[in-house]
Amino acid sequence: MAKRIILIASGNGSNVENICSFFEKDQKIFVVGVYTNNPKAKVIDRVFRFGIKTKVFDKEAFTNGELISIIKKQKPDLIVLAGFLWKIGSDWLNEFPYKIINIHPALLPKYGGKGMYGKHVHRAVKNNNDEETGITIHYVNESYDEGAIIFQSRVKIDNEDSIDTIASKVHELEYANFPKVIHRLLNKENK
Ligand code: GAR
Repeated sequence: MAKRIILIASGNGSNVENICSFFEKDQKIFVVGVYTNNPKAKVIDRVFRFGIKTKVFDKEAFTNGELISIIKKQKPDLIVLAGFLWKIGSDWLNEFPYKIINIHPALLPKYGGKGMYGKHVHRAVKNNNDEETGITIHYVNESYDEGAIIFQSRVKIDNEDSIDTIASKVHELEYANFPKVIHRLLNKENK
């Protein structure tokens, strides 16, 4: 049976683009929708070339059930948060149990929680002189960045690494691993 992915992002969308590209030729797994809460998000341009239109939503639609029912109609097997910054409410979790996953740019449980996203995470890692960082892909639950961990991967930090260098090392890990983890999760359900 074909599997259906929904992607949600708030900004740049390089992970969304990478995931769309990974599944572009797949005959069994399809990106059926890309959603953003930011009408100026770069993700909108990034997915255009795949023939996928990004739908923009506001806080009201996100919290009053409207967006849930739109997405429900698309019958997603997996909802993937790729750089999405709003907190997922219990209405979402009840509607899509164990179907919402998130990527976090650090080795959770370190550097998680409200306000910990993007460069803020990399700055904190750098300020603590950590010798490594990484990515965490996890199920979403009612607390920020605390859901069950599905996958982690790590990378070494050198003394001279800037926040931008750390960010690009982490992005490389994301590009290499996120689509594969999604693929694995969706295939596991077939068995
Ligand atoms: C990614 O590094 C992702 O891990 C992070 O935002 C970036 C989005 O980049 N997510 C969080 O910080 C969530 N707390 P992208 O828009 O280029 O894919």
